[in-house]
Amino acid sequence: MNHCNFDKPCGALEGSGALLVVLDNKKRVNAMTIGWAQTGVIWGRRVMTVLVRPSRYTHELLENARYFSVCVPVSGGWKKELAFCGSKSGRDCDKLRACALKTRDGSKRGIKLIEGAGFWYECEILSKAEMPSSALPEAIRKKYYPAGDSHTLYFGEIIHLGK
Ligand SMILES: Cc1cc2nc3c(=O)[nH]c(=O)nc-3n(C[C@H](O)[C@H](O)[C@H](O)COP(=O)(O)O)c2cc1C
Repeated sequence: MNHCNFDKPCGALEGSGALLVVLDNKKRVNAMTIGWAQTGVIWGRRVMTVLVRPSRYTHELLENARYFSVCVPVSGGWKKELAFCGSKSGRDCDKLRACALKTRDGSKRGIKLIEGAGFWYECEILSKAEMPSSALPEAIRKKYYPAGDSHTLYFGEIIHLGK
């Protein structure tokens, strides 16, 4: 698959989502469902950007991580798992164990993948940016940020795209 072809992940993101996978400093793995992400070229590199609210445990992990992966389900797959990982926090439970999802190694230490993904992006974090919701049109601000909790954008260079 071409790195710049974002049709397939878009289908998943607009559906039940994909799993954003990050390790803690003891190499324990957490997965969070995401519906928002984009890929493109920045700084002459192929980059995936994920948007994570500060209230998520995943945010805490990303603040100390070097890598993340985004694991995209096969079409229509992982419905229950995505619902669970999108409503429970890794602060409170081991979500992968609860969902009986198994992990495997990515191409670098510090990257884990979820077995059975249709395809996946392995990303090295280059930078981050806190998005000021104040700059957004009022309709979007009211709908998505009624209580603040504005997203942080994490820019990850796509170092491997697998399937
Ligand atoms: C379909 C779906 C898409 C979601 N997309 C995002 C997202 O892009 N960014 C985000 O911060 N939270 C998103 N969430 C919410 C998190 O997945 C949810 O709060 C999760 O429990 C956080 O897990 P954590 O605390 O282990 O990080 C989404 C939830 C669902 C169900």
